[in-house]
Amino acid sequence: MAVYTLPELPYDYSALAPVISPEIIELHHDKHHAAYVKGANDTLEQLAEARDKETWGSINGLEKNLAFHLSGHILHSIYWHNMTGDGGGEPLAADGVGELADAIAESFGSFAAFKAQLSKAAATTQGSGWGVLAYEPLSGRLIVEQVYDHQGNVGQGSTPILVFDAWEHAFYLQYKNQKVDFIEAMWQVVNWQDVARRFEVARSRTNALLLTP
Ligand SMILES: [Fe+2]
Repeated sequence: MAVYTLPELPYDYSALAPVISPEIIELHHDKHHAAYVKGANDTLEQLAEARDKETWGSINGLEKNLAFHLSGHILHSIYWHNMTGDGGGEPLAADGVGELADAIAESFGSFAAFKAQLSKAAATTQGSGWGVLAYEPLSGRLIVEQVYDHQGNVGQGSTPILVFDAWEHAFYLQYKNQKVDFIEAMWQVVNWQDVARRFEVARSRTNALLLTP
């Protein structure tokens, strides 16, 4: 029985056009995201088989595959909800997301500085990766991470709250090699209500990192 399942999109394929074409959304969700879900489930089965048979020759590859597919599933599950056809602009107190706006200003100096850092981190990924805004519980700050593939270059314990997919499958059919243009357009569909909700939950939950002996 599958442990992980592909979540439904919160909108139809055309909801983010013209920033992201319906063709990209359909392929991205139905094929790419689905492949990570299947990969995570398949890897769990292979690990169970390795335990049963006590055959550990493939353990390094299996653990890498688990991190890759599970992280791909998690990031895409956040990505769909981070976007809306009614999004864009910047978080404002008047829209009920003032605490997120304040945290961004405190952590990065200003919204413009944050936008520049996340845009640059996403657009300059080498190969496949993501630009991520994450809540880091030890400092209580927001940080930007430049993630390799789905799982590399990540600060342990941080929680992603806004993710920009910078893999070619996210934009190439529409933007060709203009990754910078795609990342710039992405800001038009950011769902700040969703980002603020994730920030509140990340900030308020008990985190084992903060436990003292
Ligand atoms: Fe993707």
